[in-house]
Amino acid sequence: MLTIPVGCLRTTPAMPFDIYIQPGGRGAPVLYREKDLPMDAAVRERLWSHGVQNALIPASAEYTYGAHLEGHLPAILQDPEMSPPAKTAVVYRSACALMMEVMQSPRAGQLCGRTQELVNHAVGFFLTHDETLSCLADVLSFDYYTYTHSVNVFAFSICLAKAAGYKDPEVLREFGQGCLLHDAGKSRISPDIINAKTKLSEAQWAVMQRHPVHSFDILVEAGEGRDLALDAARSHHEKLDGSGYPDGLVASELSPFVRMITIADIFDALTTRRPYKDAMNRQAALRIMYSEMRRKLDMDLFQVFVDMLGEEPPRSELRLKG
Ligand SMILES: [Fe+2]
Ligand SMILES: [Fe+2]
Repeated sequence: MLTIPVGCLRTTPAMPFDIYIQPGGRGAPVLYREKDLPMDAAVRERLWSHGVQNALIPASAEYTYGAHLEGHLPAILQDPEMSPPAKTAVVYRSACALMMEVMQSPRAGQLCGRTQELVNHAVGFFLTHDETLSCLADVLSFDYYTYTHSVNVFAFSICLAKAAGYKDPEVLREFGQGCLLHDAGKSRISPDIINAKTKLSEAQWAVMQRHPVHSFDILVEAGEGRDLALDAARSHHEKLDGSGYPDGLVASELSPFVRMITIADIFDALTTRRPYKDAMNRQAALRIMYSEMRRKLDMDLFQVFVDMLGEEPPRSELRLKG
């Protein structure tokens, strides 16, 4: 079962999942309201008046719930009854559900309008809440799936951009769309390659390295023409020393935004669990990024990232600013 705040049960003529409550906060969950019944503020008020802050829904309804949240995102983010951590979880869950849809859709581009809408709300929320990152730490998935990774990278990238001083909402919305969809191109690659548990053959690796181009194409086909969005998608595996892909760009060709998503992308890949590897803790991931990738990554932005995470940086090794 999934525990959700009562404040997330928004008004709808037919709630798309069963709702359970746990009287007294423990014991077996009791069915409170069947699926397809209407939900309104009076039902929420009644639950609150009985001291019920959280409800339970079947784990199988996780993505139906995400879609429900997406449809009510503006109202939830403006609801004074909802705490910032609860709102952060709502942004995260709704984005994960939407990205799961994108990754499974043969026409991912048709969903770009919805991803942009969600990005706009999320960026507005991140910009006005400084505690976003610590709230996110409680909800980030540590299991690697392309859809959770997409959302993690989006969240880290926007927070990093904000920490680096980029606070223009328009700029962050544009960048955010590229970040959220940076790996959408993987939906065009055979699952045998995406889900391979062993090292890819040379031919498979060549196919895999085309995914940023597919992400770029998905955006272009959806009518995206803004450079920040397109560059984030196409160039998130490029490196300052020219060793990246798909275009082998060098430092002078990589904008600060591309440099930021690259840091976020590598950090999330290292700190999440795959079938063939454990998740690294944040310290170990930062140490590897510093010691093994210092010619590939922008070390000034890397330091902003380390400071932003509030992690104890490998100080003795880190170059100090100034
Ligand atoms: Fe990628
Ligand atoms: Fe990625």
